[in-house]
Amino acid sequence: MKYSKIVGLGHHVPDTVITNEYLTNLIDTTDEWIVERTGIKERRYIDHTKDTVANMAARATRMALKRAGLTEKDIEFIVFATITPDYFFPGSGVLLQRELGLEGIGALDIRNACSGFIYGLSVADQYIKTGAYKTVLVIGAEIQSTALDLTTRGRNTAVIFGDGAGAAILQSSDKPGVLSTHLHADGRYAEELYVKDPGSSRPHKERQPEQILDTSSFKVFMNGNQVFKHAVVRFMEVINEALNANNLKKEDISLLVPHQANLRISQFIQEKLGLTDDQVYNNIMRFGNTTAASIPIAMSEAFGEGKIKENDLVCLAAFGSGFTWASSLIRW
Ligand code: COA
Repeated sequence: MKYSKIVGLGHHVPDTVITNEYLTNLIDTTDEWIVERTGIKERRYIDHTKDTVANMAARATRMALKRAGLTEKDIEFIVFATITPDYFFPGSGVLLQRELGLEGIGALDIRNACSGFIYGLSVADQYIKTGAYKTVLVIGAEIQSTALDLTTRGRNTAVIFGDGAGAAILQSSDKPGVLSTHLHADGRYAEELYVKDPGSSRPHKERQPEQILDTSSFKVFMNGNQVFKHAVVRFMEVINEALNANNLKKEDISLLVPHQANLRISQFIQEKLGLTDDQVYNNIMRFGNTTAASIPIAMSEAFGEGKIKENDLVCLAAFGSGFTWASSLIRW
């Protein structure tokens, strides 16, 4: 039996720190409101002259390769989770492949928003288990800042999101590894958290950008209350599903790395699972919600801080646009 193991983790966030105070210059909001509702103090925004989704991913990859003692040439396949690709098409997977000098290897893009990294992990895990590839790179990377409505109209959404990239390198191993992944979706809620354009849902003439008079459809729309209500239920469900599937108990979890949606959501899950502050990794205070990038950035930081050790049981869980939700249990 082959397993997949995470052998390297890396991340990259842009240099520009955007504080809550800074946002008060653009939006009718306050530091107190943002901290109380979301836990966020600051987030990073890209510098358009130097940062792209693909090149942030490349920097995260190089950090992961260095930690794993591997080089670019060891990567056999790329799984790239993003909902903010550099181009509408092709996806950012091929751009990263070009950036890493890996012409010819396959590159797959995943569009499952905040659950995208766990969906990507699941794909990589299956390829490795079946023997199709020995070394697979999984990325979560996003540039959300340039799609936000940074005016008072968009204030419930704009204050939450940030930019960044995280990378994980998976390799085949005789010992576990990724114990399981659990993926779910409910498309009935697709429009509760979405960006409508440039989609193909419009008739021909209306799809042309010059015909779209109200361009708010290019910005993130989120029904925050709905998202919150569903998130707290689905997070718990999918974590329990993973524990049950592996005959494990919540007491067995060494570290929970939840998608950094909102600190209040993470604290709710922590309380339900009876975990201590040390058993849940949160960095939303510093980076906001970076969608598909949030779990790999958090895992990479946790690893760097010595919070993930050999034989630990790490639990990943995510919820987001779609709605989609997912979990994974990993024996380190
Ligand atoms: N600053 C100040 N006031 C704000 C604000 C902001 N940034 N955003 C909204 N408000 C106001 C609203 O206008 C409203 O005012 P009113 O009562 O006078 O009408 C009030 O605050 C409450 O708005 P509401 O949208 O109901 O707030 P909320 O308590 O639901 O909090 C979120 C909003 C977004 C923080 C919350 O819904 C949430 O965390 N949702 C989950 C989001 C999430 O996790 N998304 C990521 C999924 S991957």
